Amino acid sequence: WPYFLAALTFGYLLGSIPFGLIFTRMAGLGDIRKIGSGNIGTTNVLRTGRKSLALATLLGDGLKGTVAVLIVSHLYGQEMALITGLGAFLGHLFPVWLKFKGGKGVATYLGILLGIFWPMFLLAAGIWIAMAAVFRYSSLSALTMALLTPILLWLVFHQVQMAEMFALLSALAWAKHHENIGRLLRGQESKIGSKSKPQP
Ligand code: G3P
Repeated sequence: WPYFLAALTFGYLLGSIPFGLIFTRMAGLGDIRKIGSGNIGTTNVLRTGRKSLALATLLGDGLKGTVAVLIVSHLYGQEMALITGLGAFLGHLFPVWLKFKGGKGVATYLGILLGIFWPMFLLAAGIWIAMAAVFRYSSLSALTMALLTPILLWLVFHQVQMAEMFALLSALAWAKHHENIGRLLRGQESKIGSKSKPQP
């Protein structure tokens, strides 16, 4: 239990660093939560028109998950790393510093996957890129990736424990995308790179 809680807390603290908010504020763009969809993630930072800031957000939000998981897997093995990954994801989605109103978790999900099992990271990133290339919706790409990742971990790679953990992360990511799902169904979701404000 103490180890479990330590791994969860360590992941949470790293995961709760809101890179999108920090980078856009440093660039003098104000509060990203008042721009576009109001989300603190890469897609919304891209709506400011600053591609380099969006890339920095993607790397920051992704690599915080990777680093947390790699440190713990090196020291305490894979099971603890999975718990750390869960902590990092919860930290990004519900950061105490932002009154628990964080991001939607897509970059962090991929970063955790990279640290835990890179073959599935490549596949998941490939799914996101392919969906984005065809449909141009960031949210739809993320939802598809989150749906397929646990299934592929289970059926193709036979990683049952990982599949269970990522199924939990995927469920959380889907829940965080509820507004995007509504917009997609109504045909009102904004496409990648479009600066227009998504409908409420
Ligand atoms: O990665 C988040 C993305 O799936 C949706 O972002 O800003 O369009 O709600 P946003």
